[in-house]
Amino acid sequence: MIQKEIRMSNGIVPGNYQNLHLANIWGEFIDWEKRRKGENGFLVRALQEYGAKTVLEASLGDGCDSIYLIKQGFDVTSNELDSVFRETAIENARKENVDLKITTLDWRALDAQFSNNHFDAVILLGNSITYLFTKQDQLAALRQFKKILKLDGVLIIDERNYQYILDHRNEIAAGKFEYSGKYVYCGERVHARPIEIHDDSVIFEYRHQETGERGTLTMYPFKRGELRQRLRESGFVSIQQFSDYKEGENGKADFYQYVCQ
Ligand SMILES: C[S@@+](CC[C@H](N)C(=O)[O-])C[C@H]1O[C@@H](n2cnc3c(N)ncnc32)[C@H](O)[C@@H]1O
Repeated sequence: MIQKEIRMSNGIVPGNYQNLHLANIWGEFIDWEKRRKGENGFLVRALQEYGAKTVLEASLGDGCDSIYLIKQGFDVTSNELDSVFRETAIENARKENVDLKITTLDWRALDAQFSNNHFDAVILLGNSITYLFTKQDQLAALRQFKKILKLDGVLIIDERNYQYILDHRNEIAAGKFEYSGKYVYCGERVHARPIEIHDDSVIFEYRHQETGERGTLTMYPFKRGELRQRLRESGFVSIQQFSDYKEGENGKADFYQYVCQ
């Protein structure tokens, strides 16, 4: 098996990517079809419930969700800071006959380009907020989302169930990482698992099962209730929590979604 390390061409996300790039295997890590099957219409239903038409996808990634929402008739603006992910998304959109409206902003400075009360909805999915490590940066980003949302707008954001990872670090180190693989990141050819677990950072390894390609990503592990607290502090009043897309909090879920107004 070839051991090929995936290097990032431009490590522009400060303190996060650590010069590793994952865009090349992201599609296989997600499995676009299985992501849709896992969420089973959750995203469109949540947007429709709030009458959202204009949507900012704040972390475009490889285009999976933006392309889907454009096909569903939403007016989507897609933001991505990283040029390799952007190029991957543009290429995917071309294959799907879809035009992306792309911006290249840092979440903490969205108001450089967008006016207040601009969007009906902002979505930040695929466990993206975890790229920010300090409370100050997390609040700065969430406050920017709130600022560019209309007053009755909605933020849909998700996080991995890090509390499970923090609570079970010894078992995980011994090779017992429990992950259903049915939600958000569902690909069978690329597997992810934590290889280092600390209270303030978790390193995940992403490995292609067939080619041996691997990359790692260091992320901030939100503790139970911490993201909800940040959302409150940044001014969101109504916060509805879902666990693997089912309403309520289930400690065994892989991912949590929050629909916030
Ligand atoms: C985990 S990926 C998720 C991508 C996509 N939403 C998905 O679900 O597959 C997170 C993305 O957020 C982007 N990102 C990280 N920090 C950012 C920041 N401060 N501002 C804007 N984008 C950022 C990264 O470039 C990366 O593409």
